[in-house]
Amino acid sequence: MKTTVEDGRGRKRTLAAGSAEPALWGLVGNTPLIPLPSSTVFDRPLPSVFLKAEWLNPGGSVKDRPALFILRDGIARGELPAKRLLDASSGNTAIAYAMLGAAAGIGVTVCVPANASVERKALLEAYGAEVVFTDPLDGSDGAIRRARQLAAAQPERYWYADQYNHPANPRAHYLTTADELWRQTAGRVTHLVAGLGTTGTLMGTGRRLKERNPAVQLVAVQPDGPFHGLEGLKHLASAIVPGIYDPVLPDRTEFVATEDAEEEVRRLAKQTGLFVGWSTGAALVAAERLGAPSSALVVIIAPDSGDRYLSEQGRLAGERR
Ligand SMILES: Cc1ncc(COP(=O)(O)O)c(C=O)c1O
Repeated sequence: MKTTVEDGRGRKRTLAAGSAEPALWGLVGNTPLIPLPSSTVFDRPLPSVFLKAEWLNPGGSVKDRPALFILRDGIARGELPAKRLLDASSGNTAIAYAMLGAAAGIGVTVCVPANASVERKALLEAYGAEVVFTDPLDGSDGAIRRARQLAAAQPERYWYADQYNHPANPRAHYLTTADELWRQTAGRVTHLVAGLGTTGTLMGTGRRLKERNPAVQLVAVQPDGPFHGLEGLKHLASAIVPGIYDPVLPDRTEFVATEDAEEEVRRLAKQTGLFVGWSTGAALVAAERLGAPSSALVVIIAPDSGDRYLSEQGRLAGERR
């Protein structure tokens, strides 16, 4: 028997009655695709541009999708809930694990750079996760190294999920994000623009979309240097490259300056009422550079909301750092 529930945003979800999974897990995915007035992205009245509103996942980010698939894998292997799930994250995956883990009685330990935003730290505390803070100067790579050390030292306590190398990460997007986009655009999507962190979003969504239509253009977005303020994104030339990354898959890569992404975030909020995170701002900058024709349908992945960065008031006001 199936039960239909409302998720509070008017979206209907079907939950299997008596299903072993917590009802909260059933709310991950099926996010809306929001059209942007073309003048807000391009100076010319050109392509159709849509934001995939991943901040409307229950944990507030795109990372609910891979976290859910990774948790399911840990349970299927018999590692969870016997051990604690351990992973490194720049913040959003940590929150997704913590929230979904709390719903299922699974212990979660996350290694997070200490400069993660105040909002992220507060959420991790609220969900009861064990948090190991790492040196901000070492970025997400420092968190990865710490997680590896912990996993090696206490294999009986931790199941190291390793989102940077776990096939369930891109698989989540291959099986959900891509098919949602295909359905929501009636197969008309021509360009996918997504930032690279673990690279799971672009690898999984992009691979599936290319299978559906090899002409779909995949645009990867990276910060323009190793030191940047685009939380969640990696400058791959100077970072530990995720094992799930296939450099051949993206058709092009755009390198974006933090300041340009910030300006885009501020402009979008004022012009459209959509307040997105910095990495979405970077993807918007990349989309503008495409010069896509009027027949194009460009989808930009919006991993999280600007709410996650409210404490960074100087950046929101556009003050120089
Ligand atoms: C805000 C934000 N943007 C972009 C990304 C990149 O997504 P992916 O890890 O799928 O490459 C992440 C990943 O954590 C993120 O938190």
